[in-house]
Amino acid sequence: MNAKQKALRIAVIGGDGTGPEVAGEGLKVLKAVAELDNFQYELVEYDFGGDRYLRSGEILPPGAVDELRSFDAIYLGAVGHPDVAPGILEKGLLLELRFQLDQYINLRPVKLFPGVETPLKDKGPADIDFVVVRENTEDMYCGVGGFLKKNTPDEVASQTALYTRKGCERCIRWAFDFTRKRNSKKKMLTLVAKTNVLTYGHDLWWRTFQDVAKEYPDIKPDYNHVDACCMWMVKNPEYYDVIVTTNMFGDIITDLAGILQGGMGVAAGGNINPEPGGTSMFEPMGGSAPKYTGQHVINPIAAINAMSMLLEHSGQPKSAGSIQQAIQKVTGTKMKSQAAGKMGYSTQQVGDLVVEALG
Ligand code: IPM
Ligand code: MN
Repeated sequence: MNAKQKALRIAVIGGDGTGPEVAGEGLKVLKAVAELDNFQYELVEYDFGGDRYLRSGEILPPGAVDELRSFDAIYLGAVGHPDVAPGILEKGLLLELRFQLDQYINLRPVKLFPGVETPLKDKGPADIDFVVVRENTEDMYCGVGGFLKKNTPDEVASQTALYTRKGCERCIRWAFDFTRKRNSKKKMLTLVAKTNVLTYGHDLWWRTFQDVAKEYPDIKPDYNHVDACCMWMVKNPEYYDVIVTTNMFGDIITDLAGILQGGMGVAAGGNINPEPGGTSMFEPMGGSAPKYTGQHVINPIAAINAMSMLLEHSGQPKSAGSIQQAIQKVTGTKMKSQAAGKMGYSTQQVGDLVVEALG
């Protein structure tokens, strides 16, 4: 162990339903890789989520956000509780943390691991390997809007998409940097938007994209309308290298992309604040799957993948790479399927297999 290196401090929010089970496997893999690669870490667990909310009426108690801000990273299982109305926990926890911690990048790698089934005919791991960089703090998610004459026949509702020059520029610049570092053969960044209809908000995105592109002559700037992107992603996923897009479109196209890479058992994402001292949060993309709680049938690969992303962005890229390798060994040679209950192993056994594959 390197005595000079300080321990990586991780806040763990297991969350609801099967969230804690899958997060447990990610932590198991963390323990194993930290021993192999000789780094230290420290975990602090938080019980935020549906149960705590139902008990106390609190989602994030006063001071919680500032406490979380002091960590190097946050590792999240899942939020969503059957007895809590939709939107409450999502807004009060997930979106609150993304906004308060200014995690302005939502990074969603779309990679078909060996052995994993895609619904796309005749496409394999060589075809499905791209990354979506989703802006994570603006757009229709900003909560600006309201009702007029609510619950009357004359009701009016508005929900405003807000875009700022600063907000899109920092996201676009990060995406160009990321594309440069990714250094794939294509070296192409595709802006996905809807400039033919959203002639104000997405015009701002378009102009900003053109401006920033000038600083990256080594990267090919590219553009798709979001509707066309959905078609291409299914027909020719191999076309894409890195996509940068707005919050709302990014939400939608990453569910489409997620299913192409084998679904919620596999897909992971990072909510990243790339600024010095920023706290980022990593999560499997799947939900809390409450009816499966305690059955040990949910696939932890997505959560383990999220742990790999956490390490990649927290100064342990070597360990992150080892986990990626180990995951691919397990999906490629051991697991029958990535679907809940059909893996041929329990949640814990899949975690054990990944640990074993780390070797
Ligand atoms: C996601 C989710 C969230 C989002 C919900 C749960 C608020 O769908 O992370 O993609 O819309 O961003
Ligand atoms: Mn989503």
